[in-house]
Amino acid sequence: MEIESKGMFDVSSVRKDTPGTRFVAHFNNAGAALMPAPVVETVDAYLKEETRRGGYETEERHERELSAVYDTLGRLIGSTRSEIAVTDSATRAWSLAFTAMHFEEGDRILTTASEYASNVIGFLRVAERTGAVIEVVPNRTTGEIDVDALDGMIDERVRLIAINHVPTNSGLVNPAAAVGRVATAHGIPYLLDACQSVGQMPVDVGEIGCDMLSATSRKFLRGPRGVGFLYISSGMLERLDPIVLDLHGATWETRERYAVRPDARRFELWERSPALTLGLDRAVEYALDLGLDAIWERDLYLAQLLRSSLSSIPGVEVRDIGSVQGAIVTFSVEGHEAGEVKATLRDDAVNVSTVTPFSARYDMEARGLPNLVRASVHYYNTEDEIDRLVGVVAGI
Ligand SMILES: Cc1ncc(COP(=O)(O)O)c(C=O)c1O
Repeated sequence: MEIESKGMFDVSSVRKDTPGTRFVAHFNNAGAALMPAPVVETVDAYLKEETRRGGYETEERHERELSAVYDTLGRLIGSTRSEIAVTDSATRAWSLAFTAMHFEEGDRILTTASEYASNVIGFLRVAERTGAVIEVVPNRTTGEIDVDALDGMIDERVRLIAINHVPTNSGLVNPAAAVGRVATAHGIPYLLDACQSVGQMPVDVGEIGCDMLSATSRKFLRGPRGVGFLYISSGMLERLDPIVLDLHGATWETRERYAVRPDARRFELWERSPALTLGLDRAVEYALDLGLDAIWERDLYLAQLLRSSLSSIPGVEVRDIGSVQGAIVTFSVEGHEAGEVKATLRDDAVNVSTVTPFSARYDMEARGLPNLVRASVHYYNTEDEIDRLVGVVAGI
């Protein structure tokens, strides 16, 4: 198969910006990508300033930049700044939205077969407490959520559609916008887990039609760990009841009364990491400068190259599903457990990770999959690095 590189990328310049590429061939971008130098320098400079000036004093000096992150994230996903809250992780963001919804016995939550473990654990807890039921929408034979089946499952008891855009354990890209059209047509709240898609491909909340979206900094956005964000549409905000409000999310107005702040930042707490917030801001600027279309195109090219190279090795089976397949490549090696393959690659300074049913049980069980090796590419990876990975796997 001929796989074409569109050559829109100055790969050597992004690699020069990425100190980690001198040490490892990093194919764990779905875990945490290698940060570019401008991101590390931003976080580092801020922390150093805190040591000289003090934490609160440094924050006061950087108020404007810290406030700009809401505009930057808004530009990334096509929202207004007032629809964004910065959190400490994607799961926190997702849970803040989900737990602010009200469910009763018999309410239906529709999700997808590839849903992430933490989200399903959230569903199960609510089901346990309220009697709401979780229903998994079938997939099309190609692997993505079947939007017609979803449409056919809608009735007046459906309270939420909650799916992932890209799951943790395969290249699959779910048709998020088609799901959004069903949600909008029936007026059902739509929560999208975009943890693995933001930074990998263009993600626009208006085009997708989701009411809530959660994402992280550390994966395809290449930001620091320990920070993420939540989008809540202005229309959805008033329909949610946050379970925690502090003096940042609300104002204590009289002895008996408080007022909730008008924007999505009601979901934040006062205490946060300004250094990581600025690191996230820098990472998003970096991605926007390169262009999400160009990033997506190169990620598609590299992933396809990796899949076809792996497929040519006897005993190696690529396990990705979906009619659109992105940067996450999963495979098994006959006779070798995924953890063993990961360790052998690590000995050769090639980073991959593994996926097990603990992270995506519905899907892994339905497909009868063993633990898999997950090699997730990103635009700064090269054809040579792919050759290295494939060479080690072939050696096994
Ligand atoms: C699809 C998906 N959703 C959510 C998460 C959770 O993200 P976080 O660890 O930032 O909470 C992950 C993490 O791997 C993921 O792959």
